[in-house]
Amino acid sequence: MKKLFTVFIMFALTAGFCVYAQQFSPQEVKDHSIGEKAKYLAGSHVEKGNSDCITCHDGKVKVDDSETSINTACMNCHGDLPSVAESVAPKGEINPHKSHLGTINCTACHTGHTPSFVYCNNCHSFAELNIPFAGKKPQYKTFDVKDYAKAKPLFSEKYDLVIIGSGGAGYAAAITAKEAGAKVVVLEKMPIPGGNSQLSAGGTNAAWTKFQKLANITDSPENMFYDTMKGGSFKSDPKLVNILAFKSNDTIEWLSSYGINLSQVNAGGGASQPRFHAPAGGIAVGSYLINNMKRIAEEKNIEVRLNSKAVHLLINKNREVTGVLVEGKHSGLYLIQAKSVVLAAGGFSANAALVESLRPAFKGMTTSNQPGALGEGMALAADAGATLIDMNEIQIHPSVAVGSQILITEAVRGVGAILVNHEGNRFVDELTTRDKASAAILAQKGKTAYLIIDDDTVERLAQIKGYFHLGLVKSGNTIAELAKAINVPADNLAKTIERYNGFVAKNKDDDFGRKIMRQNFGHGSYHAIEVAPGVHYTMGGAYINTDAQVLDKDLKPIKNLYGAGEVTGGVHGTNRLGGNSTSEMITFGRIAGESAVKNAGVK
Ligand code: FUM
Repeated sequence: MKKLFTVFIMFALTAGFCVYAQQFSPQEVKDHSIGEKAKYLAGSHVEKGNSDCITCHDGKVKVDDSETSINTACMNCHGDLPSVAESVAPKGEINPHKSHLGTINCTACHTGHTPSFVYCNNCHSFAELNIPFAGKKPQYKTFDVKDYAKAKPLFSEKYDLVIIGSGGAGYAAAITAKEAGAKVVVLEKMPIPGGNSQLSAGGTNAAWTKFQKLANITDSPENMFYDTMKGGSFKSDPKLVNILAFKSNDTIEWLSSYGINLSQVNAGGGASQPRFHAPAGGIAVGSYLINNMKRIAEEKNIEVRLNSKAVHLLINKNREVTGVLVEGKHSGLYLIQAKSVVLAAGGFSANAALVESLRPAFKGMTTSNQPGALGEGMALAADAGATLIDMNEIQIHPSVAVGSQILITEAVRGVGAILVNHEGNRFVDELTTRDKASAAILAQKGKTAYLIIDDDTVERLAQIKGYFHLGLVKSGNTIAELAKAINVPADNLAKTIERYNGFVAKNKDDDFGRKIMRQNFGHGSYHAIEVAPGVHYTMGGAYINTDAQVLDKDLKPIKNLYGAGEVTGGVHGTNRLGGNSTSEMITFGRIAGESAVKNAGVK
């Protein structure tokens, strides 16, 4: 009987091997470290005997670019992300399975045949996050679109619309187009969707909304128009700013129609009225928007392809864009022929070389951006004949936590924080525009400053609790204790706070003319976060018109090409106001979606 069983097992194994042999060549097996020493995750799974190639690959060598099949297999064995989050890390600790990124692919971090890497550590530095088969931080390199001009695609597909980029602008365009009946695909080169929009912290600017009215804030689109023009040194295209301001209320309503409510209205820099709309409780706006837009896209069966890089725009002899050449992580080079193409690929703040070449003074500065923000969308547009404008208008955000890439949202100042230097003195209107606030910090000793808050401020903005969680905050029960913790003269800090409280009491800042103060100090403990400017946003890009058409060198629309969000230029002039990015991405993303659908002749 035992012998019979052994024969049966041998047969089963051999049969299994035959299946492998049919599907995977010996070289493929070797290349993938399967059946060899457990070099990576795949090898270790096989070695442990709890899964084999078929378990993950569904019998196919080829994996779809979004790695859906692999991820389904991971979840079949390990459970979905929320259940893994509950099982691997108790509440309160840094938990990579339960982050602001929402539900993402397991393969964004755990890779089968290459070294794995904790995706969070692209921006954070969580030394305690151990991952099996860990490797070095990946280098996200850009490419030259010209190298792909003559490349031969392996296969071709047809869509009404291709949208390049899955940030807020891409999702807004995709949802709009899909609702209008278009066949749409969204391309995302990174292993997770959301782009920089996912990281956006503070809020979405909009004027004269129901939420402002509820909070007794009197505002108008005219105010928003003027503030935006002024904030950008009147260098913005007024026609685009007009759209931004006058359609902003509709943007808030459109979001509300999907159950996305930005009901907390905070103050933002350079705005004459509080119009920085955030989710209730003051959680970060970007992850809230993107996680909801992901949900809507799933409900509407919108195809979002991850690990899929647009490398070239196809242009016919009439200078019309006819499609996109795509490099898929697994599928290689292929072509998508499309009636309309929407560029929503973001900016280039994470492209240190490009930033430095345009603004040498920003050399070596940290960035608040995700690593994919390399500016390839602009390169695609330029190669297609687009006019790029304002490329050297690069925004440094005044408050990135020192030694990190973590943006401390402007909303912290909006709900009451002050900025002090290493002498414990205020030195600027904390709610001036970012260019001015950043310049003022760089003029201080050490080129850094401290945001000072108290327990009351913390209660007003949920995001601040996150900064505690990330270990970015120093605290003291008294001003003197805090001063000691951050090494500033205690008497100066005490005088600064007392003087500021006096300004709050009479609602007039005699020193720097701050208009919106919101709170005095003295509620519970005191806290400080050391901040310095970091590269945050690139105002320039492909010049668009009010229909979101990308314009050529003669400022004529390039047929079939549309743009929205940070990849475009013209809306922000020399300096973007906080909250105008998420506002722009939804407003112009929707316009791009509508225009592209119309152009595609979708009925
Ligand atoms: O400070 C912030 O919350 C950033 C907002 C923005 O860039 O719009």
